[in-house]
Amino acid sequence: MKRSDFLKLSCTGCLLGAAGLVSLTELLSCAPGTALKIYKAPLAGKIITVPEAEVMDGKFSIIRSKGMDYDIALRRIEAGKYEALLLRCTHFSNPLTVSGKGFYCSLHGSRFDENGQVQNGPASVPLTQLPCSLSGGNILIHV
Ligand code: FES
Repeated sequence: MKRSDFLKLSCTGCLLGAAGLVSLTELLSCAPGTALKIYKAPLAGKIITVPEAEVMDGKFSIIRSKGMDYDIALRRIEAGKYEALLLRCTHFSNPLTVSGKGFYCSLHGSRFDENGQVQNGPASVPLTQLPCSLSGGNILIHV
């Protein structure tokens, strides 16, 4: 990528972020080399359905649903086994952003690792894990 293209992309992302038009996860998804997949899925009853093909081994996909106040980080642990973490800080319920291999709360600075365990307080409780099941090539996240 040419320097001028990089600066244009970076400045556009920063301006949109400062204006509150995009979240950090969306910025990360367009940054070169940091592909973070965002999948928009509807909430039907208490289930969010995500095609298995949307999730890669060991890498988080961010699941965003109009019916949910928080994103979900979803990844495949092994064949047929998925982990879904609700990206809600367990301190005072602030939405979390992806940071490195884990998650960060911008309100008071709590950090969680990729398994949802607290790395830095003030939060003291791990992230909520949402049960997942499989049906016809889809992952069903039970919220
Ligand atoms: S709400 Fe996240 S650290 Fe306080």
